[in-house]
Amino acid sequence: MKNTPQLFKNNRQWASKITEVNPDFFHNLKNQQAPEYLWIGCSDSRVPANDIVGLLPGELFVHRNIANLVIHTDMNCLSVLQYAVDILRVKHVIVCGHYGCGGIKAAMENKPHGLVDNWLRHIRDTWRRNQVELEIIPDESGRNNRLCELNVCDQVINVGNTTIIQDAWRRGQETTIHGWIYDLADGLLKDLGVCISSCEDLHIMHKGNL
Ligand code: CO
Repeated sequence: MKNTPQLFKNNRQWASKITEVNPDFFHNLKNQQAPEYLWIGCSDSRVPANDIVGLLPGELFVHRNIANLVIHTDMNCLSVLQYAVDILRVKHVIVCGHYGCGGIKAAMENKPHGLVDNWLRHIRDTWRRNQVELEIIPDESGRNNRLCELNVCDQVINVGNTTIIQDAWRRGQETTIHGWIYDLADGLLKDLGVCISSCEDLHIMHKGNL
């Protein structure tokens, strides 16, 4: 089948539902976007960023990849971050992981998955650095969930260490980085309490994590 008629039908319904409430909605959005938040999340289809936090188009700038990683040489993620911080001047950068993440599970397995293993290597490094803590957790799903959390903490640090955030803080631009995790089982978010908004905060987190 070449086309996907259901998706276009859904799209027309969605657009008309929004314009019923606010006839100028799309017209007003057309010429500008001013979101306060950048969301860095997992590509997982069960974790739809805008829906989870109840935000409309225009309110959330989004970057998603497998296992919500922020890699220092990933020009895609860094370009999104730079645009969000330097141009859109978002006030909050949210790194959001989720329990039961397939990327985390794959990284913990001792079998090859092809190209993606190079991407997942970063998670295996996080696993290795936290091996002592993870090994005392008796069950596999518990270990998996904890690694999902630890991965978010590492990515919060990675965001904080980028030149983009460092420069923003240096020039006095208020930018806070948050680490959250989403539970597929109940649809709820949990704040991991690893919020950083200055070089001092980053330094404290570094001491605890690396
Ligand atoms: Co995932």
